[in-house]
Amino acid sequence: MRVTKSVRRLAAYVPGEQPRSKAAVKLNTNENPYPPSPRCAAALRAFDPALLRRYPDPVFTGLRKELARLNGTAPENVMVGNGSDEILTLAAKAFVEDDERIASLDPSYSLYKTLAAIRGVGWTGVPAECGDVRRFLPRDASLFLWTNPNAPTGALAAPEKIARFARGFRGVVVVDEAYADFASANCIRFATAAGNRNLVVMRTFSKSYSLAGLRVGYCVGPAPLIAALYKVKDSYNVDAVAQAVALAAVKDQKWMKANVAKVVKTRDAFTAELRRRGWDVPPSESNFVFARPPRLKAENVFRKLRERGVYVRYFKGAGTGDRLRVTIGTDAQMKKLLAALEAVGA
Ligand SMILES: Cc1ncc(COP(=O)(O)O)c(C=O)c1O
Repeated sequence: MRVTKSVRRLAAYVPGEQPRSKAAVKLNTNENPYPPSPRCAAALRAFDPALLRRYPDPVFTGLRKELARLNGTAPENVMVGNGSDEILTLAAKAFVEDDERIASLDPSYSLYKTLAAIRGVGWTGVPAECGDVRRFLPRDASLFLWTNPNAPTGALAAPEKIARFARGFRGVVVVDEAYADFASANCIRFATAAGNRNLVVMRTFSKSYSLAGLRVGYCVGPAPLIAALYKVKDSYNVDAVAQAVALAAVKDQKWMKANVAKVVKTRDAFTAELRRRGWDVPPSESNFVFARPPRLKAENVFRKLRERGVYVRYFKGAGTGDRLRVTIGTDAQMKKLLAALEAVGA
């Protein structure tokens, strides 16, 4: 067996832990604590297993049409992926030459850096809080992955700022809006605008639609860029069951929005409570908060919580190492977390 040098050197992306115990309080991977729409269960029951004999629709006609309608655009402006993670991989294939770089905010979704390494190109991190992204960008950056709201901070950049940046950027800007349903603004109108040549908005079913296990994400953008993504995808990248269930979920906007409203309400109450206890909690427009404990080191708090079956996320390193990223769960889960924090003296 021979493994390439670049893969031998590769530091693989480490996803959040999936504890086995059902009793665990799992607030570490930004999943939705509420179930998906009952229409998803109905779609699963109605799915005829005999259909599995056949390959799925390679261009997800029904789902794509519905997503186009939802976002006020045409099916040729929509691409669906096996989770939005797949779309990121496809963007790195389609929009970056071998001698170019991928750039993103830093800190941000740490998968981007790994993706650049897998693609065999460089990566540049632009300070997430900087005023002008352009000042930090090397000339050879050809794909900018702009997470908005950002993760793990939860901060929302003004959509106009991102659109302005895209207009002056020679490459492609993928606005990763995994958490946009929890936020007060988004870039979709810029992605569907007539004159847009390089801004793509990416969304996922994993967060607001409560379907992380299904693996469906999509993006909206100019037809030539979408066509390029189709060229490089696997023929059957979204399975038949996933297409059917995702379609049922999109058709129940009311259910998704009600769950989002519950999460946002819990997020704001939880933020207020942590602040009352002396934590530093920047405003979040997401389904998580990025909070700094007032006394103990964040890493110690992370470990002590874990020993008690409460899972949050800790990212070592500059800009992240003094905080914990806490996914917003149900009120009952947050209550358990707050009790555990009290018990460990945090
Ligand atoms: C910023 C960001 N983008 C993309 C993803 C991946 O989403 P998906 O489940 O659609 O692959 C995540 C998941 O945590 C995320 O935080």
